[in-house]
Amino acid sequence: MQLYPDYPVRSARLRLRPLGSSDTQALLAYRSQQDVCRFVPFEPMDASDIAQKLSGGWSKRAIAAEGDALILGVELAATGQLIGDIMLAFKSAEHRGGEIGWMLHPDYGGQGYATEAAHATLHLAFDQLGLHRVIARVDARNAPSLRLAERLGMRREAYLVSNEWFKGAWSDEIDLAILEDDWQAQHLAGSCPR
Ligand SMILES: CC(C)(COP(=O)(O)OP(=O)(O)OC[C@H]1O[C@@H](n2cnc3c(N)ncnc32)[C@H](O)[C@@H]1OP(=O)(O)O)[C@@H](O)C(=O)NCCC(=O)NCCS
Repeated sequence: MQLYPDYPVRSARLRLRPLGSSDTQALLAYRSQQDVCRFVPFEPMDASDIAQKLSGGWSKRAIAAEGDALILGVELAATGQLIGDIMLAFKSAEHRGGEIGWMLHPDYGGQGYATEAAHATLHLAFDQLGLHRVIARVDARNAPSLRLAERLGMRREAYLVSNEWFKGAWSDEIDLAILEDDWQAQHLAGSCPR
């Protein structure tokens, strides 16, 4: 099981593509914000954090093996502006399991861009990588992220009470998932927004 996307990955309004050093300022514009990082497992980043990531894990262009994670930049097709990024991790070859995550510059929120990018990423996950199940792990307080996952057709499967000591407090986690059968049913029903 491998994923070598044909870049850019296109959706109606967006292009998904690997990140590069020319994205540093655009990434910094949202990844440095306290509010954006409130429910993610890292602190606001500075330029050197971003440079380190860009020369390490974020430089991947493909998923070649179990354990790989792909971070793709999300840009507006109309302007080329980078507005967020999206993660697809290949967790298990045996169970054909993966995980998805998303992050958007708040200036571009409320327009369905993150949902559209995540939907395009699920196409990669199911149609190209061949996953059976994709999960999202969301802090129970992160209402926009929960709504996004549910818009994608992910179902709430677990509520983990007080399971992580997270940024100074115990936090609850909601695990959501979508199966390849759910995905195919959505698309047979003609509900693909692409
Ligand atoms: C999670 C996050 C990406 C959600 O952003 P968002 O702007 O709510 O998501 P979208 O871009 O998909 O926009 C959806 C919203 O736009 C609205 N919308 C407008 N036009 C739309 C369209 N064409 N299609 C879909 N939704 C549209 C939706 O109704 C929705 O609003 P609602 O949630 O109030 O109902 C964002 O809050 C974020 O980056 N948070 C910080 C990082 C983070 O916590 N990541 C998650 C870790 S698990």
